[in-house]
Amino acid sequence: MSQGKSTRKTVFVLNGPNLNLLGMREPEIYGYDTLDDIAGQLEDQAHELGLEVDIRQSNHEGHLVDWLHEAAADKALAVILNAGAFTHTSIALYDAISAIDVPVIEVHLSNPAAREEFRHKSLLAPVAKGTICGFGALSYQLALDATQKL
Ligand code: DQA
Repeated sequence: MSQGKSTRKTVFVLNGPNLNLLGMREPEIYGYDTLDDIAGQLEDQAHELGLEVDIRQSNHEGHLVDWLHEAAADKALAVILNAGAFTHTSIALYDAISAIDVPVIEVHLSNPAAREEFRHKSLLAPVAKGTICGFGALSYQLALDATQKL
């Protein structure tokens, strides 16, 4: 039976505010890889794993909420979510993750626990399947590997 677009082999990779600036945004913290570089790495890795990745970025909270709903409607295998600063503020994202039946892996390039105090709390961590942070672009790759164990 064809699974069509609603295959559980698709992993949504959702990126929040300011991540469009990766590569030039505080590279000493976030590294020199652009989001396009990271997307290329993930596409290669997904190909090896027999997965598809759907990689998106928005500076708008509501887009991320809509895309979490879409991941559920499409029966995605998982969502890899770097919500950027919304990690520390967004009840809407907490509610969206809670509402959907798709595991969400929280990722960060930096290690928020080692940074300013306002970054120490993630509102999303309690409803995420797990969190990977502090490894730069590798955080995303580790998260994509982790989708194989879900
Ligand atoms: C980030 C960490 C957040 O605290 C910050 O607001 C970001 C990026 C990271 O990937 O390290 O925008 O999510």
